[in-house]
Amino acid sequence: MPRKIVVTSALPYANGPIHIGHLVEYLQTDIWVRFQKMCGNQCFYFCADDTHGTPIMISARKAGIEPKELIGQMHKEHKADFDSFGVEFDNYYSTHSPENRYFSELIFTRLNEAGAIVTRDVEQTYCDKCKMTLPDRYVRGTCPRCKAEDQYGDSCEACSATYQPTELINAYCATCGAAPTLQTSKHYFFKLADYEQDLRELIAGGYAQRSVANKLDEWFKAGLKDWDISRDGPYFGFKIPGEENKFFYVWLDAPIGYMASAKNYCDRNDLDFDDLWNGDEYELYHFIGKDIMYFHSLFFPAMLIGSGYRPANKLFVHGFLMVNGEKMSKSRGTFIKASMYAKHLNGEYLRYYYASKLTDGIEDIDLGIADFIGKTNSDLVGKYANLASRSGPMLTKKLDGQLGRLDEQGKELINKLTSAKDQIIQNYEGLNFAAAVRAISALADEANRYVEQNEPWTTIKTDPEKTRRTLTAIINAVRILTIYLKPILPKYAEKVEQFLNVGKLSFADVETVLENHKINNFERLFERIDEEQVNTMIEESKDTGVPKPAEAAEGQAAEPFKPECTIDDFAKIDLRIAKVVKAEPVEGADRLLSLLLDVGGTARTVLTGIATAYKPEDLTGKTVVYFANLKPRKMKFGLSEGMILAAGTGGKDIFMLTADAGAKPGQKVL
Ligand code: 2FM
Ligand code: ZN
Repeated sequence: MPRKIVVTSALPYANGPIHIGHLVEYLQTDIWVRFQKMCGNQCFYFCADDTHGTPIMISARKAGIEPKELIGQMHKEHKADFDSFGVEFDNYYSTHSPENRYFSELIFTRLNEAGAIVTRDVEQTYCDKCKMTLPDRYVRGTCPRCKAEDQYGDSCEACSATYQPTELINAYCATCGAAPTLQTSKHYFFKLADYEQDLRELIAGGYAQRSVANKLDEWFKAGLKDWDISRDGPYFGFKIPGEENKFFYVWLDAPIGYMASAKNYCDRNDLDFDDLWNGDEYELYHFIGKDIMYFHSLFFPAMLIGSGYRPANKLFVHGFLMVNGEKMSKSRGTFIKASMYAKHLNGEYLRYYYASKLTDGIEDIDLGIADFIGKTNSDLVGKYANLASRSGPMLTKKLDGQLGRLDEQGKELINKLTSAKDQIIQNYEGLNFAAAVRAISALADEANRYVEQNEPWTTIKTDPEKTRRTLTAIINAVRILTIYLKPILPKYAEKVEQFLNVGKLSFADVETVLENHKINNFERLFERIDEEQVNTMIEESKDTGVPKPAEAAEGQAAEPFKPECTIDDFAKIDLRIAKVVKAEPVEGADRLLSLLLDVGGTARTVLTGIATAYKPEDLTGKTVVYFANLKPRKMKFGLSEGMILAAGTGGKDIFMLTADAGAKPGQKVL
């Protein structure tokens, strides 16, 4: 009996583009879904844009459009991005939909009736100028612990302290700079602890990987707290039934968006939603990143259980993407948008590379750029495409494109390939794609060795029929390898199907042999990656600080102004002439230079972010303007005592303020 399976990936926020970090999850899910379909199972893949919340409302305001318009644009962009990587959803919907409103209200009402919702007064930060409640991240100010300036309302990036926005010193609204006020307001809470027993049983029943279950144990030990599920207007979201100016918090309706997407699909395809979502017939799996485990292992299942829905069979949690061993970085150009990647490279290369790294664990995966180029060229071009290009053209040009029969040696090769099927299927099923790729690549090596041993390019001159048998074996090897690779490389598989003149290949076809069959003309399958292409993509991804025209058109937020300062504040700044005695690069920090300054007999060291515009050797002897009484700052790379003045937008566009060479170090600058 074929299985019936429903699969979801986390819903991307509708206020930003898809990037290669997101793609780890969508590619992992898509490969698994394609694999299930190729096994003859019925499998539906549902997703949607996550459209609600403050950031989207603010982005729309800044762009001067309605949130609905913004999310409409993003929906199109996201879909185009997914298309270019072959991510094939059965439905890609939106949380701003009638179905999602219906289910959000229904679940809320049922939870309320079950006594799982309570209301309480909450003190919140409000901006009179923006006329809105400020989420923690939209309040900034000085850290109450280490006094670092310009920190978020919930945590300090300098000392890692966590606190309430009300504790910030000199707090200001991140959007307009005004000082926020405090307000008391009624909020709705979901009593998560009411479902502790259900959740414990769910997790004991294998709802998540072991490492995730361990994390959950810690949360249980810490005690489950009530969850604030309401936000005051203005807020882009769904109104809470019976309220005029209160809305569901975006994280309440986001996971319900999985149901909305499924419902919308069912209605259009004559399927019964209740059977699909709530019946025993279907298995249900959510693919998510480890950052949103809390929502998917506690809040969402508890909400479902409390409202009479069954939770998923299992969560599949994955790690984050690193690039060259580090977090993706805009300044290094490794924060690569899906559309940027697709402009330069074939999406299937990334599908293959990620697959070669993915396991069922929650460890981060690393995209090593050199490794990526190497693996693409050696495996996709050197192994798979090579095998086809060594057999197809010779067959069509010299032997009428006609396959013969396998001889003993050919059968031996093909047997080796077919007998790997069960193991490869198991690897796909268990999300051990890396193991599947290793096995397939070893089989391709085997097939390439067969070619070397049989030298069809030599035998074709003397024994065409033996050559036909050799090429028949190679073509069959290409066909089996293509079946194995098809979940990962769907476009490649389509080209091979066309060239082999066969229908859509599935796992059931592994055991059949192609003999006495006519193939079509060979079409090139993959091109080598040239390092230059990748370098250009990285260069174009670098954030120079200057908004690109496309971003301006997208209405990306400009940096907000800092809070006002008075002339007295300004007068506190002590600017002095300083001479650069020594300048050197800072190891591990591409953009920093360490300058040793002579400030009139006093030596000071300053770490300054001008390495993108200045070479250290050009700086020695320069007379610069020095901010002498800036409090020394301990940075990751050492202590920086003060600052030198420069202007510009970043990258190469940085200009140091210099003084006449005759100016004396230590002299005051007016
Ligand atoms: O973390 C995020 O990007 C969220 N937009 C994921 C939502 S997943 C689901 F719950 F909707
Ligand atoms: Zn404001």
